[in-house]
Amino acid sequence: LARGVTAPDLAGRHVVVSAGGTREPLDPVRYLGNRSSGKQGYALAKAAAARGARVTLVEANTGIPDPAGVDVVHVGTAVQLREAVLKAAADADAVVMAAAVADFRPAAYAPGKIKKTDDGGAPTIELVRNPDILAELAADRALPGQVVVGFAAETDDVLANGRAKLRRKGCDLLVVNEVGERKTFGSEENEAVVLASDGAETPVPYGPKEALAETVWDLVLPRLRSTI
Ligand code: CTP
Ligand code: CA
Repeated sequence: LARGVTAPDLAGRHVVVSAGGTREPLDPVRYLGNRSSGKQGYALAKAAAARGARVTLVEANTGIPDPAGVDVVHVGTAVQLREAVLKAAADADAVVMAAAVADFRPAAYAPGKIKKTDDGGAPTIELVRNPDILAELAADRALPGQVVVGFAAETDDVLANGRAKLRRKGCDLLVVNEVGERKTFGSEENEAVVLASDGAETPVPYGPKEALAETVWDLVLPRLRSTI
């Protein structure tokens, strides 16, 4: 192949990527959210499409235009993201959970705007746990040999936390990055280590999210089921 031409090594494959950050509504004007930009998920989706895959991108609150050649499903909350990802994963060869899924949502949605009271007090907001989509995907694979990939942003002992999370989630690959000043949130660049359930650890040097996306697919490729 000529330089700059991508090998269609994902041709005949269906891959699912989640991107962005879920928003958990509290009342008609407020939500609990997070800082995920969605850029890494979009880079993964575009890279897979360029490598010949059929791509379903489940997107939460990014505001990024739909990439050409990618089927995009727009969702808002963690519960909606779970529904859309599980549906798309039914016939997928690989699922990559790049979305930042809210761990908790308000226990109740207030149909009217929550107002201040005259006593100067503040409400206590009760939260409940959201489903762990990645753990569910890994535990109940829709197809034998489906490859399941997670992302984790960690602080402190990043690698030890990542290794423990990989085991806990039961996924095949976990892309671990350190949360820091110029890294991760909203940034164009990323630095990571990709941990595999077989013990392989692949460092990815600081660079564009597109480069990390290619490395993720390079690592998914040999783990894909052989039957198409
Ligand atoms: N994830 C998910 N469902 C959730 C939370 C997280 O599918 N309810 C996925 C994310 O998309 C990501 C991976 O799990 O791919 C790791 O997310 P992270 O927030 O690091 O994991 P948690 O288990 O929520 O751990 P922590 O308590 O550190 O937030
Ligand atoms: Ca979390």
